[in-house]
Amino acid sequence: IFLQGAHVTSFVPKLSSTLKSDVEHKPVNTKSETYNLDNELLWLSPIAEFRPGKAIRGGIPICWPWFGKHPKNSSLPQHGFARTSDFTVVNIHQDDNLAVHIQLQLTNDPSTQEVWPYPFTLTVNIVLAESLSVSLHTVNNSKKPMPLTQAIHSYFLLDNIDDSKLQGLEGCSFLDQLSDTLDTQMPPITITQEIDRIYHKQNASMQLVTNTHPATKNKILSIHQTNDTGTVVWNPWIKKSKAMSDFPDNGYHTMICVEAANAPEPIKIEADQSYQLNQTITRMD
Ligand code: BG6
Repeated sequence: IFLQGAHVTSFVPKLSSTLKSDVEHKPVNTKSETYNLDNELLWLSPIAEFRPGKAIRGGIPICWPWFGKHPKNSSLPQHGFARTSDFTVVNIHQDDNLAVHIQLQLTNDPSTQEVWPYPFTLTVNIVLAESLSVSLHTVNNSKKPMPLTQAIHSYFLLDNIDDSKLQGLEGCSFLDQLSDTLDTQMPPITITQEIDRIYHKQNASMQLVTNTHPATKNKILSIHQTNDTGTVVWNPWIKKSKAMSDFPDNGYHTMICVEAANAPEPIKIEADQSYQLNQTITRMD
């Protein structure tokens, strides 16, 4: 987890007993806990740049306080300033069930006031257990309502995009950001070309199934969201992969972004009120 952007770049869940037999060749044991680094759930670009002011490509960037382009000023950074800001650690503790809770915080300063005229406290709560949970808790410390678009922009690691599907958004309408048109999803989502959509659903619960080949074992991730009003599904495919300097040409083949979002319509947080968006990721197979 990087302090810049409160950015999670890796999550390897502790294995449940049903999975342990798969990994006897490569365990990392801490008494009763078993981890296998082959069970990484997040995609991280092998050519990601780690430097101040540059968002890390992969893992879980945070888009805040606006998602995508700034609604009024296109010279401001895409996806807001949180992902390139330094957070401070406010608390780390382990609970009785051995889950680790990490709280990282960002507050307004003169540089944020210039582009976002609201005093705020943004706390990113990360819980590391058998699941990974990321929450964005925003407090509006100003005296006026705060409009907000935001996303937990998770990059998931796939065995192979051709053998993967995302279930749970069937029947939902979506905004196709590539054509700026509305449509409705009928079957589970499979990817054979560039995709950049915002699905309209609240509290979405999805399953990401990778390696759907009948002869071999599937990896199934449950993605559970609360207080989202949209889910962004993004894969840049071939041409856009090549156009991004921090993204390998063939990277599109092993990743998909499934993002808990409040977008494209902003939510409004009243003065002195707060709002919390959450995404929880659990390996199910
Ligand atoms: C997605 C957007 O959330 O993020 C896409 O829907 C965008 O339009 C993608 O291309 C990556 O954005 P960035 O700024 O990290 O390159």
